[in-house]
Amino acid sequence: MPRIFSGIQPSGELHIGNYLGAVKNWVALQHAHESFFCIVNYHAITIAFAPDELRRRTRDMAISLLASGLDPAKCVVFVQSDVPEHTELAWIFNTITPLGELERQVQFKDKAGRSEQVMAGLLNYPVLQAADILLYLADTVPVGEDQVQHLELSRVVARNWNTRFSPDAPYFPEPQPKLTPTRRIAGLDGQAKMSKSIGNTIGLLESPDAIWEKLRPVVTDPARQRKTDAGEPEKCPVIYPLHKAFSSPETVTQVETNCRGAQWGCIECKKVLHANIAAELVPIQTRAAELQAKPAMVDELLADGGQRARAVARETIAHVRDAMGLDARTSSPSGATA
Ligand code: AMP
Ligand code: TRP
Repeated sequence: MPRIFSGIQPSGELHIGNYLGAVKNWVALQHAHESFFCIVNYHAITIAFAPDELRRRTRDMAISLLASGLDPAKCVVFVQSDVPEHTELAWIFNTITPLGELERQVQFKDKAGRSEQVMAGLLNYPVLQAADILLYLADTVPVGEDQVQHLELSRVVARNWNTRFSPDAPYFPEPQPKLTPTRRIAGLDGQAKMSKSIGNTIGLLESPDAIWEKLRPVVTDPARQRKTDAGEPEKCPVIYPLHKAFSSPETVTQVETNCRGAQWGCIECKKVLHANIAAELVPIQTRAAELQAKPAMVDELLADGGQRARAVARETIAHVRDAMGLDARTSSPSGATA
């Protein structure tokens, strides 16, 4: 059975880009795979943060993930800092990762360009990500398109370690991304990808009224000035892709026909979309409200997830330490197996 690992930063509310690009896929995959889903708070501290806010956001992210349908009976949901082996393996991987590989990561160049002082943690971010995945010997990583380059680096790390310390039989798998048809959701501006840092998001827990206020002014096919103008769905950068994500195939066909034939105005089209988004999100929001009322239960679920993750992580670290001679005081002097 392939093993799955994915992570998400506790950096603010889950938005529908995260949900469609990653989390919805996690919910589907948990049934058929052994899966680990991690709230990566050690990654979150590579940019400016406030401790109290980080603590709150970590639990809020857990609530959003559980409300979206991750089931602790089917998968392991945990917080990265509850499993210190992540940072231990990251350090080890830092020693076999060429600096040039890190310097050419697009996300690093992007974030480094936006900050005055660049900390080493930001550069080493993808090494920690490789450690996250490989600690569980995961070979499949469901993520959005923006993570593909980071996964390439994870494969370089796995290969480098295997070549050096396990040349006869590779120990670490080379993890592959698993993308969805909604691998890149555009933000409400219709240009950049949907992202918290740009502020062009629809939050998973936003009320239907608030979501309508955001959808109403969104740009559609710019050539369609009046309701009587025929439109082209492919030129509608936000609403049409969201229909494909939230509406039934029959509705999508109807959207295409009624846009091209100018039977529907854009507002009518948005109203249909809005109803379908609400139909999917309102049950999630109801579950989230129930979980918000039981913070101790959420904390317990996370603690339990941390223990289950740690049991696996410890085995990997023991193997790595053994292979690298980092257990010199506990194994036999000759290195012979008992
Ligand atoms: P992050 O919030 O950066 O930790 O991202 C969590 C997951 O959501 C990752 O798998 C991302 O690839 C995915 N993701 C983030 N933004 C988008 C987007 N606009 N479209 C599709 N997937 C996304
Ligand atoms: N870098 C990922 C993001 O920003 C989050 C992440 C950290 C991750 N570790 C991971 C994703 C391991 C997949 C696997 O979305």
